[in-house]
Amino acid sequence: MQSHKAFKLLLWCSCLTFASLLDQGKGEKCSKYSPTLQQTQVGFGSPPTFMARVHNNCPMCPVINIHLKCGNFSQALVNPRLLKVISYNNCVVNSGFPLSPLQTFSFNYSHPKYVMQPATWSFQCE
Ligand SMILES: *[C@@H]1O[C@H](CO)[C@@H](O)[C@H](O)[C@H]1NC(C)=O
Ligand SMILES: *[C@@H]1O[C@H](CO)[C@@H](O)[C@H](O)[C@H]1NC(C)=O
Repeated sequence: MQSHKAFKLLLWCSCLTFASLLDQGKGEKCSKYSPTLQQTQVGFGSPPTFMARVHNNCPMCPVINIHLKCGNFSQALVNPRLLKVISYNNCVVNSGFPLSPLQTFSFNYSHPKYVMQPATWSFQCE
């Protein structure tokens, strides 16, 4: 009885190990660390200026291809290398290039505030 339990435990442990190996391959060790976007008003004219800061919260892996929900953000407001408007509600940060672990990437725009949120991204774990 005792050894049967021990065997079950062993099996369970090795499954966990295996699962965590798979996770690392797919970059899921960053799954708790979604990139975030914060906006701060830095200009108080008309229109106001906002500084948008996209942060890679994962301390382990670079993140690439961050797409934002960006409403009808206008390409005329920002250099497309910083933020490329693909279509309605779909913008790409930093031309899709990597943000290092814990890197913050920022761009400014002068317009009434757009509500923006990261929509999709990929972590590049070893
Ligand atoms: C989107 O663009 C349209 C047409 O240019 C404009 O009327 C509307 O106010 C914009 N919406 C937002 C949320 O900025
Ligand atoms: C955005 O504006 C802030 C405040 O004026 C400035 O410190 C910062 O350098 C600007 N960032 C960019 C990317 O232009």
